[in-house]
Amino acid sequence: MQIFSTPAEMQAWSDNCRTAGRRIGLVPTMGALHTGHLALIADAAERSDDVVVSIFVNPLQFNEVSDFDGYPRPIDDDVAACEQTGVAAVFAPTAASMYPMGFQTRVVPGPLGAVMEGPTRPGHLEGVLTVVVKLFGAVRPHVAIFGEKDYQQLRIITQMAADLEFGVDVVGHPIVRDLDGLALSSRNVHLTDSERAAAVAVPRSLDAAIVAAHVSDDLTDLIGAATSVIDAEDAAVLEYVTVFDSITLIEFNDLAGVPRVPGVARIATAVRFGDVRLIDNRDLFESSET
Ligand code: PAJ
Repeated sequence: MQIFSTPAEMQAWSDNCRTAGRRIGLVPTMGALHTGHLALIADAAERSDDVVVSIFVNPLQFNEVSDFDGYPRPIDDDVAACEQTGVAAVFAPTAASMYPMGFQTRVVPGPLGAVMEGPTRPGHLEGVLTVVVKLFGAVRPHVAIFGEKDYQQLRIITQMAADLEFGVDVVGHPIVRDLDGLALSSRNVHLTDSERAAAVAVPRSLDAAIVAAHVSDDLTDLIGAATSVIDAEDAAVLEYVTVFDSITLIEFNDLAGVPRVPGVARIATAVRFGDVRLIDNRDLFESSET
């Protein structure tokens, strides 16, 4: 397995792969790899000849210095995990090589960035799009896999790749969850034992809304069902819960006339436990996920 620490080295390797007619699959990550990331890597392996995993804790997308500084960076474990899963190359660039002195360009989302994480984390989505463009430029992948865990991120990247003609096939992968339903996240390690136990309220709040959606078109019933599950946990502070069009991300006012089929409507939430902010989402009328 190759390890590259600058965009130029990465590009040279990718150019050779492309010349040899090989299809490159990219899984962008910030490291602290867990089973969710590994599922994306397995997905990429099925869609490409050579899988590249990027590991870069991107300073541009953090709103809080403490979140950036405290972000887990177990690089040796991550490299070992990539090696074991048959990854062809790890791209772990230095911040100086990604953002050298004088770097100034930003990629800004359109209306898809005006909801959910947009207003609650100013600059975050712009930081994500900017680094993803840089990763696409360095790795030059044919296909890139992103998790539905960060659903808005997946949508803005899909839109950007189409709008800017990257020639990269952006693929979404379903959320990988712990046994109790909590979505896997690199930030879960920061939860105390009691916060981790309480955090199951996050997926359960979405379950409650989905149950309510079976019998009601009224969004106050759905939002109320989700909110009461979060409010029952003293440690949990609800930031938002919202029901929206799966493609446009525009919030619904009610569900009257909305087809009750998968892929149409989604519910998403952000909840804080102390310093840890967790996000989750579900298809409101999903068929198979439980
Ligand atoms: P990170 O949080 O490390 O996540 C890397 C990829 O793994 C993202 O596409 C994310 O949606 C996916 N992922 C994380 N947890 C998951 C889970 N439980 N199930 C399925 N997929 C999961 O997201 C980022 O990094 C960054 O914003 C990045 C895109 C790398 C840009 O810096």
